[in-house]
Amino acid sequence: MSSYCIKVEPDERTIIGNDNDFILDTAIRNGVKIKVGCKGGGCGICKIQILEGDVDRGHSARSVLPLNEIEQGYALACQTKPNTDVVINIGK
Ligand code: FES
Repeated sequence: MSSYCIKVEPDERTIIGNDNDFILDTAIRNGVKIKVGCKGGGCGICKIQILEGDVDRGHSARSVLPLNEIEQGYALACQTKPNTDVVINIGK
């Protein structure tokens, strides 16, 4: 297991996650408020934008995360794990 820094914008907070945990779970554990819905990759409520770094987006329905949004860096926090240090925008 590897640990990574997750910098949260626009909060300007940095939390520590790892490649075993979804970004959503790490965020909740650290008091970062990301909207939560199905936690199964099917509703899109937890959508965040990856501004820097590499992630594993896991399983997500194309209807809620289309390819053009992936190209713009969007990901579903409930399905995404960091592969490097990352900067995310939770879009408040
Ligand atoms: S909470 Fe539904 S897709 Fe993440």
